[in-house]
Order: sequence, then structure tokens, then C-alpha cells
Amino acid sequence: MRTYDLLKLPHGRITKICCIGAGYVGGPTCAVTANKNPDVSVTVVDLSESRIAAWNSSTLPIYEPGLWEQVQGARDGGADRPQNLFFSTDIDKAIDEAELIFVSVNTPTKTMGAGAGLGSDTSYVEMAIRKIAQVATSDKIVVEKSTVPVRTAETMREILKAIGKPGVHFEVLSNPEFLAEGTAIRDLLAPDRILIGSLLNDHGLQAAAALAEVYARWVPRERIITMNLWSSELAKLAANALLAQRISSINALSAVCEATGADIDEIAFAVGTDSRIGPKMLKASVGFGGSCFKKDVLSLAYISECLHLPEVAAYWQSVVDINEYQKDRFTKRIIRCLYNTLNNKKVAVLGFSYKKDTGDTRESAAISIIDALVAEGAKISIYDPQVLESQIWSDIEKFKGARGDVKQYVTVCKDVYKACEGAHAIIVLTEWDEFSNKQIRKRMDWQRVAESMDRPSFVFDGRNIVDAGKLEEMGFRVECIGKPGSGWFKG
Ligand code: UDX
Ligand code: ADP
Repeated sequence: MRTYDLLKLPHGRITKICCIGAGYVGGPTCAVTANKNPDVSVTVVDLSESRIAAWNSSTLPIYEPGLWEQVQGARDGGADRPQNLFFSTDIDKAIDEAELIFVSVNTPTKTMGAGAGLGSDTSYVEMAIRKIAQVATSDKIVVEKSTVPVRTAETMREILKAIGKPGVHFEVLSNPEFLAEGTAIRDLLAPDRILIGSLLNDHGLQAAAALAEVYARWVPRERIITMNLWSSELAKLAANALLAQRISSINALSAVCEATGADIDEIAFAVGTDSRIGPKMLKASVGFGGSCFKKDVLSLAYISECLHLPEVAAYWQSVVDINEYQKDRFTKRIIRCLYNTLNNKKVAVLGFSYKKDTGDTRESAAISIIDALVAEGAKISIYDPQVLESQIWSDIEKFKGARGDVKQYVTVCKDVYKACEGAHAIIVLTEWDEFSNKQIRKRMDWQRVAESMDRPSFVFDGRNIVDAGKLEEMGFRVECIGKPGSGWFKG
């Protein structure tokens, strides 16, 4: 057994963890951590009383496959296991009792001041750090989980040192989370790697080893990577930037496909079989969304700008520019195919979340595409199997200025057939399995939909999940991303 003598851990190892921020990262991460460490008490705290109440109820605040089982097991305990997962708004108490604190708060893109629209807003991180410094009466390992600009740990160390009580030592680690929503539990249970960054002095290395021991309960040691603090911070930004860049690359190629008759799925397959490229994250789409990609790529561009590296900044900025171009291109194609006028035409939007298997709508392509269609005069009906109706209204409320009360021209349907009835066009914006006519089970009845629509009936597939040939046999005109549409000569 290792000793962490410099850390002054009361039990010689980590036995109490506090996580500040009960969101998409903090909640699932702590549920799995608690399940895999039944002898460690894990308390997740948040400023939001309603969020904490939801985590303590049977209706969790986020939808994530497999999450309920993880939460219930540790939160409620059972015959064979203790209760060791707690959700609370008593932030001070949880901080002071813990030996290790995850900082898992949101770091959205700045909306004002220097770097507005580009840099990350780290004010929530700073608020959490100040709270830790004010409250802690014993040594703490403070762990950055939120994605932050490189060298944020330096700021954290400075604040902790300046405000912390005399004699209390804080060791800051970086331990970025790589989970993707929709597969969060799978990603947490079998991660490609766990990354822990620390200062390379004795204190830092002991803290990193103590955290590694928590993960080693279920993650093979060779997958737990330790490195210097700044590399770890930048590695998280780099991973998201490279993933986003792959999607922008395939989406840029999809435009070439549409102009030439090539098929982007065939291109992705052909290039993905090269083991140096690999097949993942090469699915052409209407554009990436989610709380991370755009924010992190812009943050990297802004950091580069601040470091006087304008060429590097422009390179990363272009990844986001192509994503905006892709959404715009798709919208223009819809307008063109619908004879250049959407005035009073009913358009059914299938899918509002930014990807399947999540109810999260942050940066969802659906939001800006619907905005553009509304501005063209379309009547929109939206169906999504998971996104809450209240969330959809809050996302599209800002369209009010365009044409008066948004509820006059947008409806949210609980039934996919109702959404499509009488529509001129269906736009698939999220790849939910039930929208695909390739799936055997859980699929919608496209024949029934065909019979209920206005003619000519269009399907614009922003996710390439439909079998266009089969839909064409039913009388649909089909337009997919990066493929020749129904209007193309296919001889
Ligand atoms: C991403 C990273 O994958 C994860 O490691 C990090 O921790 C957080 O950011 P997430 O945004 O949840 O995760 O989902 P991801 O599966 O990466 O998809 C992001 C967006 O890209 C979605 O809108 C998705 O639909 C889109 N996407 C993904 C594509 O358009 N094509 C692809 O091939 C993959
Ligand atoms: P992520 O996707 O990164 O998990 P979320 O927005 O889902 O982001 O969750 C972040 C959570 O952090 C929110 O529930 C928010 O209320 C909480 N939060 C932000 N700042 C603080 C703070 N200083 N103290 C406690 N909770 C905070």
C-alpha cells in the first residue's frame, strides 16, 4: 500500500469526495465513482436547489442511458452495498469534510468583455475555488474536472493560497473528463484513458497517486496516465479540437460530394479503413453541437490569439466556421428544394437534441436551423423523444423578435405522426434510432407518414440515417448530407 505522508489524509487514502457542480459531468462521474468505491463517500453539491432535488428524486435532471441504475445503487444503497452517494446544497459542509474536491462547474463561452464570444468564462470555477479557500479547515486536493483554458490551475493555486486559512495546504490537479453524452456511463465504466495532471514535485505526485488509486478500483492501471498539469489541461482542449476538426473535415468534403455526385458515407468508409485515420467521428452531419466542441475550439483559438499565434488561431477558428457553413448550407438547400418559398408551409422537425440519447440541447444545430426557417415564414412542428417541451420553448424564445409570438408558428408535438401530418417537408436533425427506416425495431412508420403529408413530400436528412431508396419508393423526395439528392441523374 502506498503512503501519502505529505497529504495528511486522516485514513491514509481518499475516503471522502466532494464534487462541486451536479451537471452532465459531475452527476454521472460521481455516480460511477461511488459505485466503484463503496467505501468512499461521494457528495455532489450544487447552487441549484431544484437540480439537487431532482438528483434526489426518481426523475433525474438529465437523461442518460444507464444513469439511473448507477445513481440508484449508490444513492439508495441496498442489502449488499452501503449508501455512499449524496446530493446536497450544503456546499460548505461537503467541502470541509472532503479530502478531495472535484470542481465540475460550467465554463461557457464568455458573453462580455475581452474575448467575448471566444474565450471561456471561468467565473464559475473561480467562485467555486474562492468558496473552497474560505471554507476549508484541513488540507484538500482540488481537482479541475471542468474544461478550462491552459494554466487555469495556476490561477486556482494563487487564489487558494491568498484566501486559504493559514496552515491549510491545497494541491491542485487536472483530471479532465472525456465522457460523451448519450454514452456517458459506458465511457465512465470503460474509459480509453484517465488523465491526471499534477505539479511534478513530491506533493503533486502524491496527490496524483491518491486520485489514481480511486480510479484504479475499476480502470486498468495502464490506462491511468499521469503528466504535468499544463499538458493535462491542454490535452483536454486538444482532444475536443481534434475531434471537432475531423467532423468539420468530413462535412467540408460533404459539400464537394453534393456538387459531384460522390457519396460521403462511401468516402468516410474508404478513408476510415486506413488504420492511420480510423473510422470514428467521421459521420457527416448537419453540424456538431453540444456544450464542448464549439466552446473548446473557440477557447483554443482565443488562447492562440492571446499567445500571439494568429495563424494557429485562424486554423482553429476555421473548424467552427465550417460548422456554421454546414448548417447554413443545409438550410439553403431546404429553401431551394421547397421552390424558394417557405411561406406558411408546414415543416416537421424530427429531433431537437444535439445528438441522440440525450435530452441536452446546448448548441444543437436544430436551434439555428429552425430560427432560419422561421424567418422564411415556415410553420414548424417539432418532435423529439427526450427533450422537455419547456427546454424547447426556452431555446426558441429568442426568435420572438422575428415574427411576433413564437407560439403562432411553432408547435411542439408529443407524437411524431402529429408533427408530420400535412407537412410539406420533414427535416431530420437528430439521429434518434426511431427516425431511421433502416432499423428493424423501434422505428416510425414512414408509410403512414407518407400518406399524411402534403405533396410533393420532402425528407431532408441532416444525419444520413434514412434509407433514401426505400423512402423514394414511397413517393418521398429525399435530400441527404453529402449525397446526390432525388433530383440527381443517377445513371
Ligand atoms: C464531446 C467529446 O466526444 C467528449 O470526449 C468530451 O468530453 C465532450 O465533448 P459530446 O459533445 O457529448 O462529447 O458528444 P460527441 O459524440 O462527441 O458529439 C458531439 C457532436 O458532434 C454532436 O452534435 C454529434 O452529433 C456530432 N458528431 C459526432 C458528428 O456530427 N459526426 C460524428 O462523426 C460524431
Ligand atoms: P457540465 O455539462 O459541464 O456538467 P452543467 O451546466 O450541466 O455543465 O453543470 C454545471 C453545474 O454547476 C450547474 O448545475 C451549476 O448550477 C453548477 N454550479 C456552477 N457554479 C457553481 C458554484 N460556484 N457552486 C456550486 N455549483 C455551481
